[in-house]
Amino acid sequence: MSQTRGSRIEGFYKLHRKERLAALAQRGEISEHEVAELLNPTPLAFEVADHMIENAIGVLGLPLGVGLNFLINDHERLIPMAVEEPSVVAAASFAARLIRQAGGFHAEADDSLMIGQIQLTGITDMNEATDKLHRETERILTAANAVHPNMVKRGGGARRIEARPLWETACGPMLVVHLVVDVGNAMGANAVNSMAEAISPLLEEISGGVARLRILSNLADERLARARTGIPFSLLKTEKLSGEEVAHRMMEAWAFADADPYRAATHNKGIMNGIDAVALATGQDWRGIEAGAHAYAARTGRYRSLSRWIVSDGQLHGSVELPLAVGTVGGNLECNPRVNFGLRMLDCTSARDLAAVMAAVGLAQNFAAMRALCTDGIQRGHMALHARGLAIAAGASEEMVEQVVDELIASGEIKLEKARTIIASIRAAA
Ligand code: MEV
Repeated sequence: MSQTRGSRIEGFYKLHRKERLAALAQRGEISEHEVAELLNPTPLAFEVADHMIENAIGVLGLPLGVGLNFLINDHERLIPMAVEEPSVVAAASFAARLIRQAGGFHAEADDSLMIGQIQLTGITDMNEATDKLHRETERILTAANAVHPNMVKRGGGARRIEARPLWETACGPMLVVHLVVDVGNAMGANAVNSMAEAISPLLEEISGGVARLRILSNLADERLARARTGIPFSLLKTEKLSGEEVAHRMMEAWAFADADPYRAATHNKGIMNGIDAVALATGQDWRGIEAGAHAYAARTGRYRSLSRWIVSDGQLHGSVELPLAVGTVGGNLECNPRVNFGLRMLDCTSARDLAAVMAAVGLAQNFAAMRALCTDGIQRGHMALHARGLAIAAGASEEMVEQVVDELIASGEIKLEKARTIIASIRAAA
């Protein structure tokens, strides 16, 4: 086992849990204290959980894995991923391993601008109210910033307002004011909601309307994250297909998703497999992220792919763009030790950095799913992984695993009992 740092750790999946932790600790990726914390059978003390939600009766477990091989903006990244679905971590690591040979991912994220919405009803002259609100922008921003002076000191705070008339709703016209706030390294829901509530009386006074809803929008389209990569054909070839053929098939697969909402939903789900897994492992509001992603995918009026895959200049070029409202401070981050661990392992310097990494993981996940779908199909890999898990669970030695996996797949009976029978017959023959 190499002791150099980096996200490429050969043979990691073959190790037992303690060996994996030791490998990460030896390389300085995690501390001895973190190893002990991960081995603690209680991931979250019930006393803490009891303060996090209402009517708590227990704590739910989820597997926490590590996505390997990621090279993002020339930095090696180990990716914490919490997910119940087999193959997700393996697929991300596979894609990252291939893509690192092409120079890895380039990823970035916008400033952390969140939108708070205030609904104003009962306005008699919408145009006049809109003009008045815009003229009073400075007063409104000052009132919003008075709620969070520390955020302003850290360089964040309310940036601008936008009054948006909704001329046609089921209840007639209404005016919606967007308050755009730079929330820095926080996810920002609490800050934005309290600012939106605080400025409502002032908005009523200026517009002559009545403030009803005051809440952030999860369509955080001023807080987008992007990732991209370019993969030469030579890296895409399979046993049976040329790299150029795979690249064209992948572009076709993307074109299908971009044209058909039925396919786009599944295609985007694949992207979110990776993003949600990092979101869970780092304590983010994954429901908000999901809502934002799908609303963004439908921004043109048709639900489309969040990613784009194009063949040009001997390469397959992939990119993804979506809103990612994530934080590295605040919320439940302080009370959940495993979440803190995830953030430390990822070594993110800011919420923008985290968002950029998550976009790259989403693109990797999308690459792996599309490549499998347009070549061998998804089940072969799933079945091979499942068979490997069963072989190990049935007690196959390291030298035996591949043979047991092959025989399990060939038998079409991928079951623990069958794995035991195969192992027994290999041992008997030896
Ligand atoms: C399964 O969790 C995700 C996929 O369905 C994604 C896709 O179809 O692109 C494999």
